[in-house]
Amino acid sequence: MLNIVLFGPPGAGKGTQAVFIKDAFGLIHLSTGDLLRSQIAAQTELGVKAKAFIDRGELVPDQVVIDMIGNQLAENKSAKGFIFDGFPRTVEQAKALDVLMDKNNTAVSGMLALDVEKQELINRLLERGKTSGRSDDCSESVIENRISVYNEKTAPLIDYYSAQNKYYAINGMGSIDDIAARLKDTVEGL
Ligand code: C5P
Ligand code: MG
Repeated sequence: MLNIVLFGPPGAGKGTQAVFIKDAFGLIHLSTGDLLRSQIAAQTELGVKAKAFIDRGELVPDQVVIDMIGNQLAENKSAKGFIFDGFPRTVEQAKALDVLMDKNNTAVSGMLALDVEKQELINRLLERGKTSGRSDDCSESVIENRISVYNEKTAPLIDYYSAQNKYYAINGMGSIDDIAARLKDTVEGL
């Protein structure tokens, strides 16, 4: 199986690029952010609880997203592989993903991290906020908080995957096509 963790701060282009990789390699795209937003839209109990965290730019508790991913893996038993977008976000989530993969006799193949300058992230998120309907993209203070949460809780995953020799830094600046080509080259080398 080919299991890719597509990594990077908010606005790095994970969702945009995940679609290309999914199509190129026949993978299932699992975006925890999209899954949470569909729960919010459906006004489920989980969605109502998650909304409070998302609106502030905070992380939803680990077990909530771990269970969501566990359910998705169970529902896609015959998949060729997965691309994880926006997950794991904490070391706790990364450990849980390793356990889930191991139970399915597979493993994370590589963690591809998109590097993008902070001002570019803010510009992209504010631009997306004009059309995304996402309240967390419209406020500069929420965006700042999301980037701080990334630096504090999510960036340590670089060390986690480096220790497993699975970390690949990708230049996330430039055109969507150029970035897609860099990612594709890296995935082909896994
Ligand atoms: O990945 P994305 O940027 O779409 O996530 C949007 C929001 O969903 C995050 O800012 C966070 O509030 C929440 N989220 C989370 N844990 C994850 C993924 C997303 O709390 N693993
Ligand atoms: Mg996204």
